[in-house]
Amino acid sequence: MPLFQTLAELQQARKAQTGQLCGLVPTMGALHQGHLALIKQALKENQCVWVSIFINPTQFNKQSDLSSYPSNLAEDIKAIHLVDPSICIFAPAITEMYPQEVISASFLFNGLDCVMEGADRPGHFQGVITIVSKLLEAVKPDNAYFGEKDFQQLQIIKNWSKKAGIATKIYGCPIVRESHGLAMSSRNKLLSSEARKEAGFIYKALIACKNTENKTSLNANIKKIFAEHPTFKLHYCVCLEEETLTELEEFQTATSPRLFIAATVEGVRLIDNIALK
Ligand code: PAJ
Repeated sequence: MPLFQTLAELQQARKAQTGQLCGLVPTMGALHQGHLALIKQALKENQCVWVSIFINPTQFNKQSDLSSYPSNLAEDIKAIHLVDPSICIFAPAITEMYPQEVISASFLFNGLDCVMEGADRPGHFQGVITIVSKLLEAVKPDNAYFGEKDFQQLQIIKNWSKKAGIATKIYGCPIVRESHGLAMSSRNKLLSSEARKEAGFIYKALIACKNTENKTSLNANIKKIFAEHPTFKLHYCVCLEEETLTELEEFQTATSPRLFIAATVEGVRLIDNIALK
């Protein structure tokens, strides 16, 4: 399986792929079915596919979150190989992506970063776009694939790439869930089996809200549900227009309202979202 660890090797391999439609799936590894779904989508729509595996330090606003982030390159390589052995993997060292200082560049996001994850995790999206811009610059893919699980990240990447005139097309892919509803995430591996099982209630809560007629009582509903799961700390539950991530004037007239939630259990942050119309 083609494994590349330096930008020079990557660029050489890309030259040999000239003329082939190329898809990129950026990841931080500890791959699960959510990642593999993006990879399979990329395989359908491109002649060559690259998966990057890089735990990007600049997007972690807490050192403890970075140091506990799960990582297993050998397992990831095996999982990708099973999908398709021709997939190219780019797994660089930190010094390759940050040859000087390990810091973010500075970007403007039209306020998309002022809510939810951006508000709770200062500097997070500056770090995300710093690495995504470096990866797009290195691979120069025709298409890049991101999950709707990190919906705010997807919108920020779409918005930034459009403003920056990036030629790569950005695609969003649906959320892949564990059988009991919990959105798959590399961080789920850090949960005890009890917490992981219990966490299925978050998706059930989103579904319950989607099915509630009176959308003005969403917050009260969510708070009531969380009161039944006291080990879960609710950070936010907000209903926003999905394009702009702004508050809805009124649910009836909203075009694409989406409900977003973030909670922590056992020190692990879980996020999820659902389209309401
Ligand atoms: P990571 O959390 O590894 O996720 C890589 C990609 O997989 C992201 O686009 C994410 O939204 C998608 N993904 C994760 N869980 C998913 C699920 N359950 N269903 C569908 N898609 C899912 O997101 C990052 O890494 C980083 O921020 C990155 C973009 C790689 C920049 O460092």
